[in-house]
Amino acid sequence: MSLTRERDGLCDAPVGIFDSGVGGLTVAREIMRQIPNEKIVYFGDTARVPYGSKSKETITKFSRQIVHFLQEQKVKAIVAACNTASAYALDEIEKEIDIPLIGVVKPGAKAAAEATRNGRIGVIGTEGTIGSHIYSTYIKEIDPDITVMGKACPLFVPLVEEGLWQDPVTDEIANRYLGSLIDSDIDTLILGCTHYPLIRSTVGKIMGESVTLVNPAYETARELKALLADENLLNEKGPELGGNRYRFYVSDMADKFQTFANSILKYGILSAKKINIEDY
Ligand code: DGL
Repeated sequence: MSLTRERDGLCDAPVGIFDSGVGGLTVAREIMRQIPNEKIVYFGDTARVPYGSKSKETITKFSRQIVHFLQEQKVKAIVAACNTASAYALDEIEKEIDIPLIGVVKPGAKAAAEATRNGRIGVIGTEGTIGSHIYSTYIKEIDPDITVMGKACPLFVPLVEEGLWQDPVTDEIANRYLGSLIDSDIDTLILGCTHYPLIRSTVGKIMGESVTLVNPAYETARELKALLADENLLNEKGPELGGNRYRFYVSDMADKFQTFANSILKYGILSAKKINIEDY
């Protein structure tokens, strides 16, 4: 199997990563750190963000279009670096394709179940993710005695997309959203939206030091690495430097995305290209 794949150039193929916008860059950043040999094709659906307030049908349609686009880029595996897409679309689309597809929810649930000491976990995320109760489902599969409390924080995504990571407006809104969780005696809080690690310090300040913040990106990158190893798909070649290593596509506002991505990734992004995702 390994030899065939190597001959087909599959190991050298990129990993596809997608999100509604810039949030998935927090997962891409972790994948770049943990498996630096891997090439990446990233798609941010900047024309249709936010995903969190849309229906399951809509998010499944969007995710399917993006998966088709990434398949056309000849990726060897896909990471849905979006909790909402992971919650709504993953199970269905996984059955339709012949390459591995992983999300961020399962790895995040696992990391949180391992982190909690008092068996009380909070999750913050979009309305879609929290309404789906997906974190609670996965956590209870691991340990049915754990209590999971969810809180939707719909204004966080636009605040992050606008770059207001450290701003009194974000502090004010975070205080309102997190109040009920502070009172509920949780010792672990999942950042259940890939945009949220960018306001981690604000959330951490409000929740206090006794609450462990879980960013599913770390566990997701670990899971991807293990999966690629299992399937003999790890890229054993040294990291290729230059334009072809990391490629970024968006559905709108390529310049804004590029500036944003350059501010959070330590690898210079040469360009972000706009494509028409409705064609897929
Ligand atoms: N970053 C995504 C998530 O993890 C989507 C947020 C949104 O577009 O509402 O859910």
